[in-house]
Amino acid sequence: MKKIITIAGSNSQKSINKSLITYTNSLLEHVDIISIDLNDYILPIYGPDFEAENGIPTAIKRLNELFDTADGFIISLAEHNGSYASVFKNTIDWLSRVNMKIWREKPMLLMTTSPGNRGGASVLESANNYFPFMGAKIVETFSLPSFYDNFNNGEINDERLKEDIHSKVIKFQTVIK
Ligand SMILES: Cc1cc2nc3c(=O)[nH]c(=O)nc-3n(C[C@H](O)[C@H](O)[C@H](O)COP(=O)(O)O)c2cc1C
Repeated sequence: MKKIITIAGSNSQKSINKSLITYTNSLLEHVDIISIDLNDYILPIYGPDFEAENGIPTAIKRLNELFDTADGFIISLAEHNGSYASVFKNTIDWLSRVNMKIWREKPMLLMTTSPGNRGGASVLESANNYFPFMGAKIVETFSLPSFYDNFNNGEINDERLKEDIHSKVIKFQTVIK
């Protein structure tokens, strides 16, 4: 069975991006899903001096080995001040020190959500532009705006947005096969 790694780019226990990931996980069929919680990979802040003195953290070696086994990625990014949440940026900075092709030339469904009506559009644009240089084959992007208006009881309740994510998950699954 194909293996999909899913990651919310947040370390919040109440992360709305985790909720969106849990929802998209429920739409996937006939795949193994590995859901990564960044809280399970506690890391020092990346710095060249720290790396020179201490090398690559064990948590990054573990994550890197896990990424080797992925057939695809579903990512949902939190937006902090128009960019990645620090925990996510730090994790990808460390991963890039082991293998610049973090995303292994595998298909990716790239998502964002936020409470605001732009739905994390800035971080989505940033990741959509840069992740291909890190080996992402971005199949689709999806932004869920106004999370607390459009997501209830574990699912998207706006019909248009729901249809949109369903069709994008189906396309992602088709590419994975
Ligand atoms: C430091 C900080 C900066 C934020 N900046 C933005 C922003 O630029 N755009 C936005 O839409 N939301 C912003 N927010 C609100 C987040 O979208 C909101 O906290 C969201 O819940 C984060 O996703 P998460 O729940 O998955 O961690 C910010 C929140 C924090 C704490």
